[in-house]
Amino acid sequence: MSRRKNMSNEAENTAHATGKDLGAPPILLTKKPTRARVSAGGRTKTACIRTFGCQMNVHDSDRMRRMIRDAGYAEVTRYEDADLVVLNTCYVRENAVDRVRGHLGELNRLKKEGRVKKVALTGCIGAGQEARDLERAYGIDLVLGTHNTYELAQFVGLPGMEETFTPELPGTEGEHTAFVTIMTGCNYQCSYCVVPSVRGRMVCRPMENVLLEVRRLVESGTRYVTLLGQTVDAWREDGRRFCDLLQRVADIAPRVWFTTSHPSNMEDRTLRLIGQKDTLVKRLHLPVQSGSDRMLKIMHRGYKSERYRRKIEVFRDAVPDGTLSTDIIVGHPRETEGDHEETLKLVEDCSFDAAYVFKFSPRRGTEAAELPGTVPEEVAQRRFLEVLRAIEQSAFHRNRRKIGSVEEIYIRHGRTGEDGKAAVGETWSGHAVHVVTDAEPGRYVTAKIETAGPHVLYAGVPFGPPR
Ligand code: 5AD
Ligand code: SF4
Repeated sequence: MSRRKNMSNEAENTAHATGKDLGAPPILLTKKPTRARVSAGGRTKTACIRTFGCQMNVHDSDRMRRMIRDAGYAEVTRYEDADLVVLNTCYVRENAVDRVRGHLGELNRLKKEGRVKKVALTGCIGAGQEARDLERAYGIDLVLGTHNTYELAQFVGLPGMEETFTPELPGTEGEHTAFVTIMTGCNYQCSYCVVPSVRGRMVCRPMENVLLEVRRLVESGTRYVTLLGQTVDAWREDGRRFCDLLQRVADIAPRVWFTTSHPSNMEDRTLRLIGQKDTLVKRLHLPVQSGSDRMLKIMHRGYKSERYRRKIEVFRDAVPDGTLSTDIIVGHPRETEGDHEETLKLVEDCSFDAAYVFKFSPRRGTEAAELPGTVPEEVAQRRFLEVLRAIEQSAFHRNRRKIGSVEEIYIRHGRTGEDGKAAVGETWSGHAVHVVTDAEPGRYVTAKIETAGPHVLYAGVPFGPPR
């Protein structure tokens, strides 16, 4: 699945690594973009943004990218070429923090050598308790949480910005694909999760405001809109619920997806809408976390596995060609062999097309970090691999069913290099496809699926030119 751009993978403890935290509220840019400016030394200032974690973070990075460009910086990809480095970080699991520590150590060294001048730490670690320790240990110049990302503007020499839910959202307009944040924060209290403490309680963005932004994006050339929120399907406003908003957005934008959902908020009518509406990508990401009712209770997930299975039945019924993915945590405190077996059973019953499997990572300040019944590392590792294998089997089996079908493929990332490396696209069913074409991102090609792996499909030469 192509879920990120310019991101680091947390591959060690994660299959299909992901971490989802919610983007800060949209910000209003009070100044029009300017060209890259030349610094006093006669050289263009340079900046490098590195993103860790989820799509909400990718979205925040897009907005920071806009700020640094407006401030006259040219963007570079290597730390050693950058005057300013921004690390936009994820806090959801400890290995994400360890990775950031590694990068901070390297940046500290480059700063001492005079190659990097300033380092900013933003995102979820910036909002977390460890930020001050890291700031001192690594001589970080600016620490920002997810709620005050806009303060980067002043740091890079732009006039101050206001934080507001305005459709004047800088960041992704004019590109073929755009993220639109519709809610921030989370009202759940899952035992293991740090998100409610770093992102706060749920705030929903007004419907009219969202629609205005979507209209403006579409007018400026956006062809694919992804609605974002930590519990995106919890969105509500004056009796209206997420399904109503989704329907309106899908009437405006030519291609729409949303992430991430919570089973307790997911209405059957939303699942049916995915099947009915042509502009909706037929792909559902619905984190289950565990197949055991005992564990779901300990995790405070608020549903039983039977309810989750019923949702999946409705989805499979309403969207027979659709793809389904989930998140699963193994090795949460008090997880027994019996609980693990139930997770494996659920994986088998739901025939997932993909899943993000995580080993439990204790987070300071969460309930689960204090719970007795820690699962030994070697047990967690074995359970992790067992779940992973079960997912891969089911994904591979389902992907193979696509062989021979002719698909309309949306190009997400163009072909790179001259070595014939394929472009990465997405079918309407939400499958990732490699296809050999020079079509630009945002275009469609039609091609036949020739082969399939557990994570991706491979298409033949497209019929006709891109559209
Ligand atoms: N340990 C392991 N996985 C976690 N997740 C969230 N917090 C933790 C944690 N402490 C996983 C959940 C969530 C996904 C974004 O990250 O599966 O859905
Ligand atoms: Fe974390 Fe649970 Fe909220 Fe998801 S629903 S962000 S896992 S607290």
